[in-house]
Amino acid sequence: MTSRMVAGTRIDLAEGDITRQDTDAIVNAANTTLLGGGGVDGAIHRAGGPSIVEECRRLGGCATGDAKLTGAGRLPARHVIHAVGPVYRDGRHGEAELLASAYRRSLEVAMTHGLRSVAFPSISTGAYRFPIAEAAAIALGTVAAVAAERQGALELVRFVLFSAADFAVYAQALAALPG
Ligand code: APR
Repeated sequence: MTSRMVAGTRIDLAEGDITRQDTDAIVNAANTTLLGGGGVDGAIHRAGGPSIVEECRRLGGCATGDAKLTGAGRLPARHVIHAVGPVYRDGRHGEAELLASAYRRSLEVAMTHGLRSVAFPSISTGAYRFPIAEAAAIALGTVAAVAAERQGALELVRFVLFSAADFAVYAQALAALPG
């Protein structure tokens, strides 16, 4: 575990499985249909059970860069925030801004609902092929900026990495945060 305080919010890194996190919310790396998929999306729906996709059906999808809230079914967490990251093409189609927006909107949804602890996977760095070093800098930079803008609103933001290699990339990005 690697941890750092940023403007009153604790940012943790952990290697593990997002479905096992008992934070107020876990974030799903979803697609715009919100009807499930593989990777994180598949793991969350498999572990959480059918109540999650039933709720998703009523949400009418989600735009890239946005995020929407549901319950968490059988998961230890209390809510799932379904965030849609960008598919990486060549870095010249607004991918960085859309990834930052997916993190920012996830935190806004959490704060709007008074949720104080959120666990993120590494959004867009799997099937959506976003280069992980750039994605990690965007993810941590966005979380740090929101923590500074909304001091005290978020107690804990945890990034749950699925491999030691991904953890090491995020640890470098966390160490590189200014302040
Ligand atoms: N816990 C934590 N991290 C995980 C888990 C898990 N259980 N499973 C996979 N990961 C990691 C992957 O190794 C990758 O680093 O999450 C990161 C994101 O990978 P994806 O789940 O493929 O998400 P993404 O790249 O955002 O692609 C989203 O894939 O599953 C479909 O429906 C989804 O269309 C959407 C697309």
